[in-house]
Amino acid sequence: MISNLNISRRKLLTLSSAAVAGLSVNQLLSKAYAQEIQKSIAFSLPMLDTVVTPTLDNPIRLNFNENALGMSPNAKQAAINAIPKANRYAKAEMPLLNKKLGQHHNVEDDHILLTAGSSEGIRSAIEAFCIPNTQLVIPELTYSDGEHFAKIFNLKITKVSCLTDWQIDLRSIKKAVDEFNGFSIVYLVNPNNPTSTVFKANELESWITSAPKNMIFIVDEAYAEFVNDPDFHSVDSLISNGAENVVLLKTFSKIHAMAGLRVGYVISSPNNIKNIAQYVAGEKLNYCGVCAALASMDDSQFLTYSKKAIDVSRTIMEQVLSELGLQYLKSETNFMFHKTPIDLQKYRELLQQNCVLVGRDFDPATNWCRISLGTPGEMLYVANLMRGLRENKTI
Ligand SMILES: Cc1ncc(COP(=O)(O)O)c(C=O)c1O
Repeated sequence: MISNLNISRRKLLTLSSAAVAGLSVNQLLSKAYAQEIQKSIAFSLPMLDTVVTPTLDNPIRLNFNENALGMSPNAKQAAINAIPKANRYAKAEMPLLNKKLGQHHNVEDDHILLTAGSSEGIRSAIEAFCIPNTQLVIPELTYSDGEHFAKIFNLKITKVSCLTDWQIDLRSIKKAVDEFNGFSIVYLVNPNNPTSTVFKANELESWITSAPKNMIFIVDEAYAEFVNDPDFHSVDSLISNGAENVVLLKTFSKIHAMAGLRVGYVISSPNNIKNIAQYVAGEKLNYCGVCAALASMDDSQFLTYSKKAIDVSRTIMEQVLSELGLQYLKSETNFMFHKTPIDLQKYRELLQQNCVLVGRDFDPATNWCRISLGTPGEMLYVANLMRGLRENKTI
């Protein structure tokens, strides 16, 4: 616990209170930024006025890129209202969600397939394109589900090394496809997990629009709604313009904060959707999840709030990492990837002893840590903890 590091809980609390009062320069900057953001949204940001005091039994969970804010109040109410009706399948509600998503992405209903989270989308899309002599091509550092399912389906897996600072090497990924004598499934996560970086839209789009027939792109945009970089584009516009070689995967787990309700969807051409639909559990999605998703899509104020709160949390984290001289990649998501000051396992254990859980190992990025961005109050706790650990020369 904190005491054996000579940082008393009282001191941590004092540091947090100092932030509330705006006494530290960096925290003042955060507060000014947060206040600026607050002006643009209707929800009240749970920011610097919330002193977070985690315990070992109730730690701050920054290990699974969940959305710590909780779901939209309207979505929560919709899920509660749905419980008495959850003895039924969501037969009437699923087409409503399908239609709403089609309108949102500017495609006809037959371009959308609802899935139990995007995990089911990843599995079913890979399964649908497994033909003999197929390879899955992925960057060496990316979300592991693609590789996980490809192994189950006995696909050849080709991992492409990253450039410096873990930038994804799209040219070498293309080369791996060009050099393979068979069918290629290219699984790209944009923005990528764990690096949080985005692909340059023109580079990706020009490859997709000129790609040969012996390949399919599965693009996972789980975190797209958090992106600030204007160079990011969703591939949904390629699909609405008729592209046949792209499968887009989306989820309600991140910006909508509904990870436990398991709602996701696939967007692609009607032919691809028919193919992928053979491998999902069909018209049997979580009833409460579907109702919550419908309500959440209408709650634009919550969605803006959800993004802006992450912007504030990111600023707090960027400040402490810069202050401590720890390298980090520019984050376009609700998590950050930074170089650890000590061995990753020891760092993780140290943070855990201080009631903060962070991400697992991501080979081959030795001693880089993925930390999810929680609420601004949670990130303030983390920032103060890290400052205290540095003061103690523990990190
Ligand atoms: C890139 C990416 N895709 C998909 C998922 C799975 O999300 P879900 O199945 O909850 O939609 C995650 C979860 O963290 C993720 O990081």
